[in-house]
Amino acid sequence: MNANPRPRVMVLFGGRSGEHVISCSTASGVLRAIDRDRYDVVAVGITPTGRWVLADDDPDRWAIAPGRLPQVEDTAAHVLLPQGSDDRAVQVLEPGSAPRVLGEVDVVFPLLHGPFGEDGTVQGLLELADVRYVGAGVLASAVGMDKHMMKLVLAGSGLPVGPYVVLHPDERDEALVRERVAPLGLPVFVKPARAGSSLGISRVDDLADLPAAVAAAAEHDPKVVVEAAIVGREIECGVLGGRDGGRPRASLPGEIVVADSHTFYDYEAKYFAEQDVRLSCPADLAPDVVARVQDVAVRTFEALGCEGLARVDVFVTPDDEVVVNEINTMPGFTPYSMYPRMWAASGLDYPALVDELLTLALERPTGLR
Ligand SMILES: Nc1ncnc2c1ncn2[C@@H]1O[C@H](COP(=O)(O)OP(=O)(O)O)[C@@H](O)[C@H]1O
Ligand SMILES: [Mg+2]
Repeated sequence: MNANPRPRVMVLFGGRSGEHVISCSTASGVLRAIDRDRYDVVAVGITPTGRWVLADDDPDRWAIAPGRLPQVEDTAAHVLLPQGSDDRAVQVLEPGSAPRVLGEVDVVFPLLHGPFGEDGTVQGLLELADVRYVGAGVLASAVGMDKHMMKLVLAGSGLPVGPYVVLHPDERDEALVRERVAPLGLPVFVKPARAGSSLGISRVDDLADLPAAVAAAAEHDPKVVVEAAIVGREIECGVLGGRDGGRPRASLPGEIVVADSHTFYDYEAKYFAEQDVRLSCPADLAPDVVARVQDVAVRTFEALGCEGLARVDVFVTPDDEVVVNEINTMPGFTPYSMYPRMWAASGLDYPALVDELLTLALERPTGLR
């Protein structure tokens, strides 16, 4: 257990990915929910170009308001992590001044989504700095971000994933692509291997549209995954890391219901058409289906070696088969997002969830574990 009676938490947000604004809005929620009597809070923003800066810790500054999308600006107070386990002080560098020692940070809460945040890169930096942090480590983050690697690990662990093919950068020949994809049947979903928010994803109903879909995915990632469409309900399940070596826990599942005007849960539906999407929580499922979804979610979390939190997204087919779509190691985490809502429905409200994640991270050792 940590010796400091009031651990210092670095809330880290913003970042280089397309989900910068969402991350700021999450930070607003977390900054509001953290109990300041129990934790010392340092807000650190990452600008869209990747600068770490001391940021305002006022939750209102980072909320999405009508006509204002929050963004981390370069405040010129640059934050520098320690570089080894022998010196744990975080420093602030300002032009024209000597480096200022901010002191030790007990735990970092990286509220970052997508590449350069959720994919193991920031986690690697924190490992090098020997600082504790909330959530998955380097390998689980990287595998969770890469839909190809994720499927290999899940299939290798006996977990249900749908049929797919991978198209590497040297596999763009149209005839070859068509030949590889045809056995999947139609429709197929064409995706960048490492992206999020449905960016670069298309549903293809006619093989003539395949080249354009592959090109659209390849704009986000040279590695493209093509999947057979799974017919089923979109069900999500929250997983929370186990304490004291215990197994992780699963929340009650939730369901994403998207209006027919969207052919799938696309980028527009996620961020610009709230009226077209219903997050139904808890999902209306038979108790045995709930148990199977929860079992698959926990086993998926364990197969990747996740820590802290993850949201496992599955399809439940008309004959109640559960197929894993993907895992998100830093799921949407505003108070209105599915992950916190599923935990609230399971008896753990947002401030308690934040507290539990920080406690889990403070309890875990740094280094190989
Ligand atoms: N194999 C599939 N079968 C049916 N629908 C799919 C399939 N893959 C993706 N989708 C649809 O596309 C959405 C986004 O795909 P997903 O793999 O979750 O990407 P992201 O990581 O961007 O969220 C899903 O929520 C679902 O609506
Ligand atoms: Mg998804």
